[in-house]
Amino acid sequence: MTTTALRVTSDPAAMALELDALRRQGRSVGLVPTMGALHVGHASLIRRAAAECDAVVVSVFVNPLQFGSRDDLDAYPRRLAEDALSAADAGATWVFAPTPAEMYPEGFGTTVHIGGITERMEGAARPGHFDGVTTVVTKLFAVAGRGRAYFGEKDFQQLQVVRRLARDLSLPVEVIGCPTVRAADGLALSSRNARLTPPQRAAAPVLHQALQAGVALVRSGVRDPVAVRAAMVREIAGQPLVVLDYAEVVDPETLAPPTASGGPLRLLVAARRGPIRLIDNLPA
Ligand code: PAF
Repeated sequence: MTTTALRVTSDPAAMALELDALRRQGRSVGLVPTMGALHVGHASLIRRAAAECDAVVVSVFVNPLQFGSRDDLDAYPRRLAEDALSAADAGATWVFAPTPAEMYPEGFGTTVHIGGITERMEGAARPGHFDGVTTVVTKLFAVAGRGRAYFGEKDFQQLQVVRRLARDLSLPVEVIGCPTVRAADGLALSSRNARLTPPQRAAAPVLHQALQAGVALVRSGVRDPVAVRAAMVREIAGQPLVVLDYAEVVDPETLAPPTASGGPLRLLVAARRGPIRLIDNLPA
């Protein structure tokens, strides 16, 4: 195992100054925003950033603004020491781990809201969630400054929302989407998986199986969203331990129901097991 020399700070102003200094020396900066509990999926984002940028900042911040319930926020795993080791091992040069008070000091009163693309799917299921995401990501982009930012395709709606954020606000950040990393049984890696009981974990790959059923139908020439959606719903209904939240067939750019005949599609599913939400998606 090789590790690069890693530096850790919680101070947004100090972090921004360090990265400005690096850019003045002609070095490029890559940001990997995370809420910690780093897993192999995060490591793949950090490795990609390290391959493409001179300095890689991994932000570790469990953002209270994007959680609907206090319980979910409190239950979110926090393990900064292990995260710093994993980040360094994957090639990070900095961990930026601010406290809630450093990110949202007394009197903080700004919300970044994006309309349209945030309204369906995760936006409908988790009111206020995307306002929390876009507000924190705007702050993280402000701290990290000009460069690239790496996000997983597992949260496909979030990725498209962040792309829209960067475009709409002319932020000097190139948003890079990276492929979902999966367990051998197809389950998309997520920090939330650690909270599944063994029977729930065994049932969870049904999301990927449902998406695969939808993709197979599209590949066989059936593009009717109603039929594709029905195939995904049928698959998930066969697994009583998982409760379907939504199954959608959308245009990958607008995340609205597809209009162009023959254009690319994105299939997305979300399901719940008690308080734990699982989401996944595939291109078709
Ligand atoms: O995907 C996540 O982990 C979070 O939503 C993000 C992008 C780090 C913002 O808090």
